[in-house]
Amino acid sequence: MSTSAAEHAPGLPPDGGVAARARALTKAYGSGETAVVALDSVDVDIARHRFTAVMGPSGSGKSTLMHCLAGLDTVSAGQVWLGDTEITGLRERELTRLRRDRIGFMFQSFNLIPTLTAAENITLPMDIAGREPDRRWLDQVIDALGLRGRLTHRPAQLSGGQQQRVACARALASRPELVFADEPTGNLDSRAGLEVLGFLRGAVDDLGQTVVMVTHDPGAAAHSDLVLFLADGRIVDEMERPTADAVLERMKRFDVVRGRLGDGVVAAQED
Ligand SMILES: Nc1ncnc2c1ncn2[C@@H]1O[C@H](COP(=O)(O)OP(=O)(O)O)[C@@H](O)[C@H]1O
Ligand SMILES: [Mg+2]
Repeated sequence: MSTSAAEHAPGLPPDGGVAARARALTKAYGSGETAVVALDSVDVDIARHRFTAVMGPSGSGKSTLMHCLAGLDTVSAGQVWLGDTEITGLRERELTRLRRDRIGFMFQSFNLIPTLTAAENITLPMDIAGREPDRRWLDQVIDALGLRGRLTHRPAQLSGGQQQRVACARALASRPELVFADEPTGNLDSRAGLEVLGFLRGAVDDLGQTVVMVTHDPGAAAHSDLVLFLADGRIVDEMERPTADAVLERMKRFDVVRGRLGDGVVAAQED
């Protein structure tokens, strides 16, 4: 990797600094003839205090990129930093602490504990860590998400949208440096999805958070500040101030080039 490549990585922010960074990030699954290269020497800068969306066809490496940036998965080669901390090379115990203290996660399937109330789910990671939540911050998050009246409910007593808002509050409870969301609206109807997207937008604009969201949906990506487009394990394009139409057009062009028109662009399948 040349120095100039490092200086001009996709996603380089004009100001505000870099929340996470990867250089020559490569991830292969398996080995020999059956090896799958999920990420192929990716350089990327995730801008602090911004909302970054990651898009691309199914299997293009979106989840793998998120997992490697978040220290949830090991890398095959290359380096990843969270802020100034290089996470590639950290020992498992340090990595666990870093994930717990500095990163928040949201998943398509909410991942709430069914036997715990909403309030207990929200503070669970901090309770496990033996950390006292910042009450003012937590109150701000709970109110912004409209969960005040739902705190004693268990997940089964909540709608999908409410469950994902609880998962969102859980991701933000420790006031992490970076929130990763993998298809957070994938299991929601459009109205509930819009609520969650509106909150993620507000978390960046009003609470100063940094969000990276993987999505199949151009409408969801349009809530972000910057879309990174992945294809075959590489970042092949980026779009600032995206609109749903522009993102859709861009996605169609990939598939024409790839001779795969219609594959996995709008429809959220698999993952
Ligand atoms: N645990 C795994 N073992 C083997 N191959 C995997 C694993 N996870 C992902 N892959 C492969 O890596 C590629 C990228 O996967 P993924 O990051 O999940 O893509 P996306 O999220 O864009 O759909 C795909 O070819 C997928 O089959
Ligand atoms: Mg995925």
